[in-house]
Amino acid sequence: MAETTLVLIKPGGVERNLIGEVTRRVEARGLRVTGLKLIRAERGTVEEHYAEHRERPFFKDVCDYLTSGPIVCMAVSGTNAVKAIRAMMGATNPVEAAPGTVRGDLALTIDDNLTHSSSDPEAAERELKLWFPEGTVG
Ligand code: CDP
Ligand code: MG
Repeated sequence: MAETTLVLIKPGGVERNLIGEVTRRVEARGLRVTGLKLIRAERGTVEEHYAEHRERPFFKDVCDYLTSGPIVCMAVSGTNAVKAIRAMMGATNPVEAAPGTVRGDLALTIDDNLTHSSSDPEAAERELKLWFPEGTVG
């Protein structure tokens, strides 16, 4: 099924010059980049993005982290894009992420796990509206 999902490259990924590497993997899979921008995220946007985690002990730290430097926002479209991208990024904790995944190959700690990707189609729709209020070209 044709879908669009959200990928964020977190500040650590931008700092480590991994924008190209992550984007290359997305495109090599056969998915299309249908929205792309480098921004400094507003705290309010990040807090809304992670609203489901508001009561969790890591909420403040993850919001601090996402606003600590530039991030890349990417809309990615294609067949089963949500599930395909989620699998490509790997488990939340990079030490549990399989080799071959972005986190399994390029990250080591959960607080610097390089990317965000939408967990399901409903989350993707909500997150795309939040990060791309101007819309995408998908
Ligand atoms: O990003 P993902 O959907 O895989 O994981 P999540 O459970 O939705 O958590 C969101 C983000 O919070 C993670 O990607 C981590 O950056 C951070 N986190 C953390 O720092 N420590 C945890 N124990 C869990 C999550
Ligand atoms: Mg999540």
